[in-house]
Amino acid sequence: MGVIRFGAIGGTGWLGSALLAAALKQGVIDETATTVSTRSGRRGSLAPFAGLTFTTDNHALAETADIILLTVRPQDIASLSLDLSGKLVLSVMAMVPMAALQARFGKARYVRAMPNAAAEQGLSFTPLLAGETVTQADLAIARSFFKASGEVEEVRDEAFLDYFTGLTGSGPAFFANLAAAMERDAVKRGLPPETASRAVKQLLKGAASSLTADQTTMRGLVDTFLEYQGTTAAGLKAMETAGLEPMVRAMLAAAEAKAATGL
Ligand SMILES: NC(=O)c1ccc[n+]([C@@H]2O[C@H](COP(=O)([O-])OP(=O)(O)OC[C@H]3O[C@@H](n4cnc5c(N)ncnc54)[C@H](OP(=O)(O)O)[C@@H]3O)[C@@H](O)[C@H]2O)c1
Repeated sequence: MGVIRFGAIGGTGWLGSALLAAALKQGVIDETATTVSTRSGRRGSLAPFAGLTFTTDNHALAETADIILLTVRPQDIASLSLDLSGKLVLSVMAMVPMAALQARFGKARYVRAMPNAAAEQGLSFTPLLAGETVTQADLAIARSFFKASGEVEEVRDEAFLDYFTGLTGSGPAFFANLAAAMERDAVKRGLPPETASRAVKQLLKGAASSLTADQTTMRGLVDTFLEYQGTTAAGLKAMETAGLEPMVRAMLAAAEAKAATGL
């Protein structure tokens, strides 16, 4: 990709700074051709990128950039009154569908993407949805930008993007919730909180690394554990009896419904 004039609205936030840092480090975008806006002027973790331009003026950013990353919280788009017609706009905002983007920002070429918090480690799973007017060249740029922070998957239907918003966008929080419940149980059973926290963190690290290193499927791994008929199998069966499947369905359906119905 040649040098492109890139602008990131809300770019020093949690997700924006992770995406920008990855794309800058990998040379997908150029520091000296990139402008980042916030309301506060905060540079946060992007401060070391000395070539970036920081501004609080979204209109000036929109005038100079060809490609605009929208990464403010969904409730903050009400504070953005911009005409982005003619631009390639990459929106990572959950709960803001294509139709709402068009209604608010005009006839731009929109790509919606839904990275997750693991973008910070270069391990996001990022589904992309291209609007009707997006060109192949636009899509290639969007792919390169999001590939810098993880895996990219194109979806053709906004309903799938809504589903992925729960599955992989919110996904890290669901594992965190299970881990927090295990920590609470361990503390109730008498372990010191610090030990419970350290044990569960190490468990998560080890599980993520070993479960994903293998070529086998998750179902295959669970079946292997069940075959041992030991303590793990006893725990797995208790999960099913306690309602694992309906709980997971409800969790993903609630996140999807929130993504689809908006603010
Ligand atoms: N975090 C995730 O894992 C994740 C995953 C998928 C999608 N998303 C989406 O990513 C978006 C950002 O989430 P986040 O977690 O990164 O939130 P965040 O840390 O609060 O970042 C949002 C940033 O937007 C800036 N901002 C707000 N209003 C602005 C305005 N009018 N002009 C310029 N900048 C403005 C804020 O800075 P100031 O307060 O200084 O202005 C802040 O730095 C959300 O729409 C969310 O749905 C996040």
